[in-house]
Amino acid sequence: MSLKDEIKLDRLPRHVAIIMDGNGRWAKQKGNVRLFGHKNGVKAVREVTEAAAELGVPYVTLYAFSTENWNRPKAEVEGLMSLLVSTIADETPTLIKNNISLRVIGNQSLPPQVKAKLDECISNTAHCSRMTLTLALSYSSRWELTNVAQQIASEIKNGKLTPEEVDENTIQERLATSYMPDPELLIRTSGEYRISNFLLWQIAYSELYFTPTLWPDFRKDDFYKAILDFQSRERRFGMTSEQIQQ
Ligand code: FPP
Repeated sequence: MSLKDEIKLDRLPRHVAIIMDGNGRWAKQKGNVRLFGHKNGVKAVREVTEAAAELGVPYVTLYAFSTENWNRPKAEVEGLMSLLVSTIADETPTLIKNNISLRVIGNQSLPPQVKAKLDECISNTAHCSRMTLTLALSYSSRWELTNVAQQIASEIKNGKLTPEEVDENTIQERLATSYMPDPELLIRTSGEYRISNFLLWQIAYSELYFTPTLWPDFRKDDFYKAILDFQSRERRFGMTSEQIQQ
């Protein structure tokens, strides 16, 4: 039986978020420049997108570029941005063919040609309903939560909201991810055990899965292993095992 066949399709996570890590180390191991790792990471993006869509996972979110990544060497940042533009351009027809919509979360301070290409792909795939692929680009969770705090403060100032009305939903509805459920599974590759400022609010009850595989080596079977691991866990949400089994 293949790994895919072992997956229970009625117990899939509705949202899988992934911290794609290890491109630089993968390239270094091969005696190549970091950008070579990013270029080979695109294949893993394709594999995961395909695997998730085939299984029927409705939401996948990829941490493609953090706000902190702007501090990397100029050549790497420029290389990553042009890789994004070319990948989006190349992959848009495949996304449409497979009925997958693209969305982006992040602070939008992207180079104009990157933003234009993304906006084009977002609008051309807006009608697609099988799966939503979200790219976190120039994203950080502290940026997102600061934004939410500013929005709430300004709504209170304008009399649209009172401090007493602010509850968890007030925050949830103002997050950049408000159009999707919170991730049920968070995967990080490359053997690092960190969250790196990614979806801090949203992962309150996510199952965390860490694998030593470097991102450019990540394939469908690695994704299936993560899903199977998720399915083997008991999710209690603060309750007892007995309560869950009722
Ligand atoms: C982390 O590896 C990876 C990134 C910062 C970029 C991820 C980008 C891609 C996979 C390319 C294209 C993506 C899309 C969505 C089209 P790292 O550089 O931090 O690796 P290291 O920890 O080994 O140095």
